[in-house]
Amino acid sequence: MNTPFLWGSATAAYQCEGAWNQGGKGNTQWDNFSHNSPLNIHHVTADTASDFYHRYEEDIRLLKESNQNSFRMSISWARILPEGTGTVNSEGIAFYHRVFDCLNQYNIKANVTLFHYDMPMALEAQGGWENEKTAYAFAEYARLCFQEFGDKVDLWVTVNEPVYNLMCCYGVGNYPPHVTDTKRFALAGYHYMLASALAVKEFRKLQLKGKIGIVHDIHPVYGVNDSKECQFAVRMADNVLNNWVLEPAVNGCFPQDFMTELEMHFPLDFVKKQNDMIFKEGTVDFLGINYYTRAFVKPYTDGETCFNENNSGVRQEDGHIVSKKLMNVKGMFERVEDPDGTFSDWDMEIYPEGLYDSLLLIKDRYHNIPVYITENGIGLHERVINGEINDTERIDFLQMHISAMQKAMMQGANVKGYYVWSTFDLYSWVNGYDKRYGLVYVDFSDEKLTRIPKKSFYWYKNLIQSYRMEGNHEE
Ligand code: BG6
Repeated sequence: MNTPFLWGSATAAYQCEGAWNQGGKGNTQWDNFSHNSPLNIHHVTADTASDFYHRYEEDIRLLKESNQNSFRMSISWARILPEGTGTVNSEGIAFYHRVFDCLNQYNIKANVTLFHYDMPMALEAQGGWENEKTAYAFAEYARLCFQEFGDKVDLWVTVNEPVYNLMCCYGVGNYPPHVTDTKRFALAGYHYMLASALAVKEFRKLQLKGKIGIVHDIHPVYGVNDSKECQFAVRMADNVLNNWVLEPAVNGCFPQDFMTELEMHFPLDFVKKQNDMIFKEGTVDFLGINYYTRAFVKPYTDGETCFNENNSGVRQEDGHIVSKKLMNVKGMFERVEDPDGTFSDWDMEIYPEGLYDSLLLIKDRYHNIPVYITENGIGLHERVINGEINDTERIDFLQMHISAMQKAMMQGANVKGYYVWSTFDLYSWVNGYDKRYGLVYVDFSDEKLTRIPKKSFYWYKNLIQSYRMEGNHEE
């Protein structure tokens, strides 16, 4: 019997659970940020968020109603280990058992991420990912989750998006701990990948039924032209945006040309020879790919390294796209906007071909390892009109990307599942609640947090139904 293709949608604990101080959960760096930091520009918290903690049964019932057979979620580390290590919170363990049991009852496969940005404050206070000890604390937490939930979970993900997360934390500086320092970025990145490899090693020891992977926010890189200088810029951008995650995760070592290039800028004294074997033994079974957009680059011209966020809804000139630097990596490349590109409300280039190209690249470069599209979606400003949310823009976006995925599958790409980001509206990190991604609308202005399925919810339900009716249903 073949495993059925997984059609699902995704969430993350901090963005949806709420109950920030209930059920014995410890504090995280995001609780600390949203409560205390002047950089919380929208003055919102995720204290209640979508209240998944109390409403998970309703949300899982809606998943079933829309024919989805998988749900991507994450576990809150601080709900399991309030201090990051040591004392286990039995209420937290019990909560996730209830969620997994509910999913199993509806025959929905759990795809579970262990780290999706929220870290126990006690660990963050000791340096977070800059401290090697955090990688070992993560392995302890991962082992505990495997032992507790291993018979209920089919797909495990070690960490979500090392590149995007750390770029925001240590490059742009808009996520806690709000640092802009390339060496500290590299240091945290090395430990994030070490943590992932250590968790995979723990998983292998237990010989569980599931599979384990990592989730990467892939950005296929395109040059503004084909010159020699531009080819170098493309390769370096590919290293910065993709390869330092994909290479160790799949092949067990970092790209040599990138390490050499980095060493010209600062000493890599945190890279330890004795960890090489951990990376070799900690490779994944599958890749989770979050695809939102591509990277368009040109050769480096001038200026210091700096990272800017796109995806924030802030444009330089209203209505007119100006070519601007999104990222400058000294001596390597500059990331720019394509003046002919199509952009979302929130300043993200819409480029479905990038998903097709990424999937074929993975097929060729990484011996066709199984892939799940673990996130794909578009953030929109939305309003309820006559009780409905007519999100045709989202439907068009998803349709274009699903077609690109299916085209790649026809060319042999080994795609096993697809997840819309997000299952329902949730906290969009520094963008707060204005940016909605859900298939289900959540009325944040109302205490009841009423759920209203959007037009895209019904569209997705029909798409899955037709896919199965076409004989693709092997359950
Ligand atoms: C991914 C993350 O980077 O993109 C999600 O895994 C995130 O957690 C999503 O919410 C969309 O990004 P944003 O910043 O628009 O919410």
